[in-house]
Amino acid sequence: MKEYLTYDDVQILPKYSEIKHRSNCNTSTKVTKNYKLDIPIVSSPMDTVTEYEMAYEMSELGGMGIIHRFLSIDEQSKMIDDLNTYMVGAAIGVTGDFIERAQELSNVGCPIICIDVAHGHHRLVKNAMRRLKNEVKTTSDLLVGNIATKEAARDLCEWGADGLRIGIGGGSLCSTRIQTGIGVPMVSSVSDCVSVADEYNVPCMADGGIRSIGDVCKGLACGSDTVMLGSLLSGTKETPGVITKQGVWPNEVLQKKYRGSASLDSKSDRGESKNVEGYSTTILYKGKVKRVISDILDGLKSSMSYVGANNISEYHSKSELIRITNAGIIEAKPHLL
Ligand code: XMP
Repeated sequence: MKEYLTYDDVQILPKYSEIKHRSNCNTSTKVTKNYKLDIPIVSSPMDTVTEYEMAYEMSELGGMGIIHRFLSIDEQSKMIDDLNTYMVGAAIGVTGDFIERAQELSNVGCPIICIDVAHGHHRLVKNAMRRLKNEVKTTSDLLVGNIATKEAARDLCEWGADGLRIGIGGGSLCSTRIQTGIGVPMVSSVSDCVSVADEYNVPCMADGGIRSIGDVCKGLACGSDTVMLGSLLSGTKETPGVITKQGVWPNEVLQKKYRGSASLDSKSDRGESKNVEGYSTTILYKGKVKRVISDILDGLKSSMSYVGANNISEYHSKSELIRITNAGIIEAKPHLL
């Protein structure tokens, strides 16, 4: 049986560096074959993470948001077509109104359409991609996922994906691994998919399970071009949903909801109740997303300087991941108390 690793199992080796200051590190990257971002961060197409406000702010910060698909076609496309041009993606499914939705998103100039399904290595996805290429008049790039294996990466590249979204069962609210036993630890999953996608020059996105800035760095060090974030961005001002108060002054706290797309909470809003594979929770209100992104970029640039990488491409080639033991995992966290 093969052994697969995840973020906590590895660290990045420091290397000889000539970087004078971390602010000199360039974080620009490709998100799909035809689109670049200034920062390698994309917000998740979840209904408690990305609608217009988050997508617009992510674009302003140099990244991108993908507007979730649990909206009417009209509501979703209006969030793209705001009279400004901004870097944005929009999610679609592979059944129902997906052709009509993709056409409308293309009509309003959406740069990236994301096929957003739990199991991307599926005939439904292959058929949907063929229909999208044949039936939709579009110049949008197709980001497709989620997948977790080399075989899936090869098939999606062959079927014409312009970007791959990698990660099955690793999300913070995900119960797929508990309920189905299916999933692949992220470091091995991303490394495997990247090794194939590189042959096709198709950019990869590491999605799910990123709990810290160090994990953002490790995801990119595995070779992914971008990372997708849910929980790290949840609870910020720009996420959809209301801020609620818990407790009584002076001990009250502010909160926002964060829920899995396959949670009962989310599914029941769509009139569904089967195949629940996610949870719902509340997150302490975090304020503006700008601060979260700024902290992430500080950490990433510092990491780039530790390995001597001026840019993301050098970060990929110079980063060497080492496997650590349980003692190493304990040492990697604050352990004085
Ligand atoms: P993080 O760890 O950043 O993960 O919060 C966000 C990613 O989790 C995935 N996602 C789900 N996976 N059931 C799942 O199995 C769900 O209900 C669910 N909702 C989101 C998704 O890939 C997202 O980007």
